[in-house]
Amino acid sequence: MDIYVFTLFPEMFTGPMETSILKKAQDKGLFSLHLINYRDYSLAKHKNVDDSPFGGGAGMVLKPEPIYNAVEDNCPLQGKVILMSPQGQKFDQQLACELAKEESLSIICGHYEGFDERIRNLADYEVSIGDYVLTGGELPAMVVIDAVSRLLPGVLGEEESPLQDSFYNGLLEYPQYTRPRSFNGMEVPEVLISGNHKQIALWRRKESLRRTRERRPDLLENTNLTIEDKNMLAEIEREELAKDE
Ligand SMILES: C[S@@+](CC[C@H](N)C(=O)[O-])C[C@H]1O[C@@H](n2cnc3c(N)ncnc32)[C@H](O)[C@@H]1O
Repeated sequence: MDIYVFTLFPEMFTGPMETSILKKAQDKGLFSLHLINYRDYSLAKHKNVDDSPFGGGAGMVLKPEPIYNAVEDNCPLQGKVILMSPQGQKFDQQLACELAKEESLSIICGHYEGFDERIRNLADYEVSIGDYVLTGGELPAMVVIDAVSRLLPGVLGEEESPLQDSFYNGLLEYPQYTRPRSFNGMEVPEVLISGNHKQIALWRRKESLRRTRERRPDLLENTNLTIEDKNMLAEIEREELAKDE
């Protein structure tokens, strides 16, 4: 996958994009990151890319011409254009999976007070990473790149498959443990060291349901639950009631 990022601050991407799994994935050619600075597409004498808003008001707004020029000069015709904006649709695992199927993504980062309204016409998606306002679209773009690229084939080793991750199957992930078996009086559940793979899988499914029920019951409403899942949830409910008595 080719990922094009349009930004005024390409240097912000250096650390996060050149470390660990994302670095290895790029070294293996699983995705390529292209950082494009709007300033290089400004026709203004001093290469400025922002201006004060018509109608007055605080702050500066990104001008349309440098962003249109940068996107039109670099964006492949196929592939999707994403505009980072707190006013967009909320980013989630489902959208990450959808974007991971594309051959290329182009991500536009706003900055300052935001961008000229006409820039919205460039975008296939307007995406928010949450109901809060950051100074620029660079951190949100990195969140999207991280979540999407780890879904690309080969980025995670087989043993780190995203299939068990929280949200992937509509549920939160089950609790994980590693050595030592006993730590500060806290024990690893017996079943995980039993070597019985069927029992381990059942335990994990049940704990995944328990955790989702406790922390994100809203997710259960939108997940296809099997009869076994429903039986497990009923059992969990009985266990929780018994605890309260
Ligand atoms: C200070 S914000 C501008 C916010 C704008 N005045 C508004 O109220 O919608 C500057 C830029 O940061 C990015 N940004 C800020 N918060 C974001 C969020 N939660 N999700 C995605 N992008 C965000 C957007 O690209 C935005 O144009």
